Amino acid sequence: ELNGAVTIVVLGASGDLAKKKTYPALFGLFKNGFLPSNTHIVGYARSKMSQEEYLDRVTQYIKLQNDEDKAKLQQFKNINTYQSGQYDQAESWIQLNNLLEANEMERHLGSPKDKNRVFYMALPPSVFIPVAQGIKQHVYHAEGINRLVVEKPFGRDTESSNELGDALGALFKEEDIYRIDHYLGKEMVKNVMNLRFANIFFAHAWDRQFIDTVQITFKEPFGTEGRGGYFDDFGIIRDVMQNHLLQVLTLIAMERPISTDSEAIRDEKVKVLKCIQPIKMNDALLGQYVSNQEGKPGYLDDDSLKNKASQTPTFAALALFIENERWEGVPFVLKAGKALNEAKVEVRIQFKNVPGNLYDDTARNELVIRIQPKESVYMKFNSKQPGLSYQTIQTDLDLSYHDRYTDLAIPDAYESLILDVLRNDHSNFVRDDELEASWKIFTPLLHAIDDPKQKLPLVTYPYGSRGPQELNEFIEKFGYDRSNTT
Ligand code: BG6
Repeated sequence: ELNGAVTIVVLGASGDLAKKKTYPALFGLFKNGFLPSNTHIVGYARSKMSQEEYLDRVTQYIKLQNDEDKAKLQQFKNINTYQSGQYDQAESWIQLNNLLEANEMERHLGSPKDKNRVFYMALPPSVFIPVAQGIKQHVYHAEGINRLVVEKPFGRDTESSNELGDALGALFKEEDIYRIDHYLGKEMVKNVMNLRFANIFFAHAWDRQFIDTVQITFKEPFGTEGRGGYFDDFGIIRDVMQNHLLQVLTLIAMERPISTDSEAIRDEKVKVLKCIQPIKMNDALLGQYVSNQEGKPGYLDDDSLKNKASQTPTFAALALFIENERWEGVPFVLKAGKALNEAKVEVRIQFKNVPGNLYDDTARNELVIRIQPKESVYMKFNSKQPGLSYQTIQTDLDLSYHDRYTDLAIPDAYESLILDVLRNDHSNFVRDDELEASWKIFTPLLHAIDDPKQKLPLVTYPYGSRGPQELNEFIEKFGYDRSNTT
């Protein structure tokens, strides 16, 4: 429905996100022929730079795999233009609009219907509203298609998120807004619905009768080095849990949508989110990393951190409960931390013990969805020890993508999501009511953490460790049998 023509305006084109994610993704789509044939990309930012400097920046993070890529990069450069301007001045926006108009004419897009514009805001939240206003007033083309792509943070609690939502909602229709949560573009996250709803045996064992606990884990092996300024304002819960991990939880827990239509999917997500109780202080374990023996710095040692007595958690384990017929009493434990021993994001669905205990040492079934690295799905199950023994052993049914799909290059999450924007598919974007429901779950806990009078306990863990020692006890308390882990 874009009629083969679109102009993608990357706002914040000289920023980190644009360089690391947006442009490499646009190039990936371009080289594989997924951008409409008549596409132009306009980078917009405050920095003054020549077209050449801009192109250098744009290509800095693009990895070329072969000579063909080199040639494609040249073509890609030809569809890119840069324009500098302010975020809060009408005349800057008018100039941008003039540039777009002239460029559209050159590309023979004279008819208003062909003026399709995607505005990608790779911007800090402080300028979200002025930019959206500037665009709406001066760069929006009422007769064409206008889409606004927004990146988190969407506020810092229910109230601020609602304020931002109201301000954006006054300017753009909900159907034209695409709130990115890049976890929704990851291959294994996109796979959750297929796994659940295309396999009859999962469909029938997917509830409190069979499942004991669900663990969703995010581990990063590096600290906030150099990003302490941003991070300290947000903390690990706002940074990855209220959004990325909660989205994964939602896909695991929601009911079957009536179809794969984006609104049907998002309706179900909202419903299940509304059944989740706000997290209680007792169901939270908060931690912060400290230096280790090898001399890796602690969180408070980071030069970019202003508050040297910061209580901001860099680690959290939170138990969430869904009060509905399917899930009552099943803890969903979200765990996330910076500066841990490894990079790993995965979901572990641990089933109940087999009743009757016919065999000794029967381990629990456990379905593991490894989101990264090395995407895989495996089910731990019990089988006879091969040979003359009758002993039961634990083994697994394993679908490892790197073994099974050897020729497959898994696209980056951003490629998948930008393509969805072009195709007008909202399934993997966060709807306004979904955002509100998700903040409600976290806001009371976040306010308690932010309130110095409440002094919530904060445990420490050394840089590069598995997390705070208290974690084992915490996950056992919420039903996870650790002897099962391999
Ligand atoms: C971002 C967070 O949203 O997600 C970062 O702000 C985090 O702190 C990142 O590192 C993780 O994304 P990925 O795709 O690298 O797992």
